[in-house]
Amino acid sequence: MTPAAVTVEVHLGPADVAAALRHDARRGLCASPRWLPPKWFYDDRGSALFDSITRLPEYYPTRCELEILGRRAGDIAAACRADTLIELGSGTSAKTTLLLDALAAAGSLARVVPFDVSEATLRAAADILAAGYPEVGVHAVVGDFERHLHLLPTGGRRLVAFLGGTIGNLHPSQRASFLGQVARGMAPGDGLLLGVDLVKDPARLVAAYDDASGVTAEFNRNVLRVLNRELGADFQRERFAHVARWVAEHEWMEMRLRSLAAQRVSLPAIGMDIELAPGEELRTEISAKFTRDRITAELRAAGLHLGHWWTDDAGDFAVTLSFLA
Ligand code: SAH
Ligand code: TRP
Repeated sequence: MTPAAVTVEVHLGPADVAAALRHDARRGLCASPRWLPPKWFYDDRGSALFDSITRLPEYYPTRCELEILGRRAGDIAAACRADTLIELGSGTSAKTTLLLDALAAAGSLARVVPFDVSEATLRAAADILAAGYPEVGVHAVVGDFERHLHLLPTGGRRLVAFLGGTIGNLHPSQRASFLGQVARGMAPGDGLLLGVDLVKDPARLVAAYDDASGVTAEFNRNVLRVLNRELGADFQRERFAHVARWVAEHEWMEMRLRSLAAQRVSLPAIGMDIELAPGEELRTEISAKFTRDRITAELRAAGLHLGHWWTDDAGDFAVTLSFLA
């Protein structure tokens, strides 16, 4: 049950999701190499698997970012004095409470806007936020942050948070257009709080995306389950291996699904049959890693000025706070 204090604005209903998935599957699975966009990982099961990833010993980003936010939330609140916290790709909103507590303590907080493509996860998170912060309006938005940023609520002084290193899941050109759109939607005084994972020893990166217990492999293969359910496809998940590779040239991790045999897969809902060669790989995700110089330059290109840069003690992850230049 959604308490009265929660409003949910849906820009991506089930019919839109179905149409977008068909479009993406048709486009990506015909391409060479074949690929699938990462937002389709996050059905209910995928969101739960991601939540397990955040607790894996090898997956350091969540712990690092929590360390930074735990230590710096007061500085963040003082620097932006926001009354509205908008969080893009908010998932379970597990990190949001650190920011809400600090903004509430600074006396400015009135509204929180979790924004995610995954409606069920978002609704559950919104209810938890409403129960924990009865004084704060919870306005959840179901949408795609690559398509619906112009629909974000305006007014007041806003802090837009984009955490978890999710920005690294966008390709460089998508990232530039995403940051440009965020900047164009900002008013003077609004801030962008961006979490970015940093370039480091590739062995640690590979371990973070290919954990010993196989949760990440299951998460990656979950996208095939989504295609089976939504498009009536007949992918056999055990015939695909999880591949996580560091691509030094681009400074990103690349996740793929490798076909273990020659196989034919049919996707009746989009009238497609595909033949996969043994060893053929479907690209499912990149996760770009940053340096301070690189993210500063990308923010600047979008019209933003990096005002603060905070890292964990080990220097593995950074949280940046930017304002319009
Ligand atoms: N912010 C959380 C979750 C990160 S996982 C954390 O830091 O731990 C990425 C989240 O972004 C998921 O909840 C997923 O559903 C959401 N997401 C992925 N692609 C999206 C898109 N295009 N639009 C909106 N949300 C998206
Ligand atoms: N935003 C997360 C990241 O890039 C998403 C993620 C974590 C992910 N592990 C993954 C995506 C494995 C695909 C496969 O760190």
